[in-house]
Amino acid sequence: MGPGPSDVHPRILEALSRPTIGHLDPAFVAMMEQTKELLQYAFQTNNALTMPVSGPGSAGMETCFVNLVEPEDKVIVCRNGVFGGRMKENVERCGAHPIMVEDQWGQPVDPNKLEDALKAHPDAALVAFVHAETSTGAQSDAQTLVELAHRHDCLTIVDTVTSLGGTPVKVDEWQIDAVYSGTQKCLSCTPGLSPISFSEAAVDRMRKRKHRVQSWFMDLNLVMGYWGGGAKRAYHHTAPVNALYGLHEALTILREEGLEQAWSRHHRHHLALRAGLEAMGIPFVVSEQARLPQLNAVAIPEGIDDGEVRQRMLHEFGLEIGAGLGDLAGKIWRIGLMGHSSRAENVLLCIAALEAILSDMKAPIETGTALREVHKALNA
Ligand SMILES: Cc1ncc(COP(=O)(O)O)c(C=O)c1O
Repeated sequence: MGPGPSDVHPRILEALSRPTIGHLDPAFVAMMEQTKELLQYAFQTNNALTMPVSGPGSAGMETCFVNLVEPEDKVIVCRNGVFGGRMKENVERCGAHPIMVEDQWGQPVDPNKLEDALKAHPDAALVAFVHAETSTGAQSDAQTLVELAHRHDCLTIVDTVTSLGGTPVKVDEWQIDAVYSGTQKCLSCTPGLSPISFSEAAVDRMRKRKHRVQSWFMDLNLVMGYWGGGAKRAYHHTAPVNALYGLHEALTILREEGLEQAWSRHHRHHLALRAGLEAMGIPFVVSEQARLPQLNAVAIPEGIDDGEVRQRMLHEFGLEIGAGLGDLAGKIWRIGLMGHSSRAENVLLCIAALEAILSDMKAPIETGTALREVHKALNA
């Protein structure tokens, strides 16, 4: 129950162990085509350029930036946590100029601040932001931010590493231009692949580049020679065959459950966890409207040693919860309820473990009612 990787579904573990076949084997190629369709479903898009990048979420992030950003471009980057900071680094490494829109950690991106930046920089080409900030548990209003960017003729790059499969991500309806995600959060697959999707407008921008993409491996013009399909499909790099079996299975499970059911399961278990935490008097860091159900950031009670609690949770209960990052280190815990980890028994175990350990450490919490509140919320 950390910030990812989440528990991997047993069906996915089984899929990973299937015999490795060639990355151009007809059976594998057929599975690639199905994987693209399943990803279109997960992202809610008809974008033809929808595929998994061979590499973790950071590789998907970098693929979006290196293909869409050219030297000297101005890119507006909204930063409200760790991963917005990485977007800034990506822009700089493309030889472009990041214009930063800063929000406090734990807050969603403020659309008014983005609008001010767009007005102040009418020559900006792109807007980039993180939909679900894993470092703080805050979710931003992607649809509104994309709409604003388009009104000012900017394309958008959106990080959905933690949101995909856990809360709505509607690429076509929200008109996102380039989106990337990860496999190890709400898709409950092993880490190491990064689904991406590019709109027609993003593909058009790529085609019109003046400079060659500086990364050979991530140049989508080359990668699509393999993933694009058709009779001319050719070797680009040796695809991670078994990891892709796993992703195919993960997406099949998501399709079987249904996206809306998956979103509501995440929400239901978040409410149950919240009921238990609130009964103990442990407050959330993020305001209710912007809270991610799959990543619950809560304040550590006064005088309690963060590391000791997490170690005891792990050793005495076999349960991982996440630490705070950056300025929030030692101040918050990040409790994940992602994908296959988002289950009633996990919520019950987590609340029981926290209550037992914190009361043993004489923390200033309320005891004796938390499990009853979780149980009530689960049955509501
Ligand atoms: C919001 C966000 N973006 C990007 C990443 C990077 O993904 P990865 O660690 O798979 O490279 C993460 C990882 O946790 C993330 O949470």
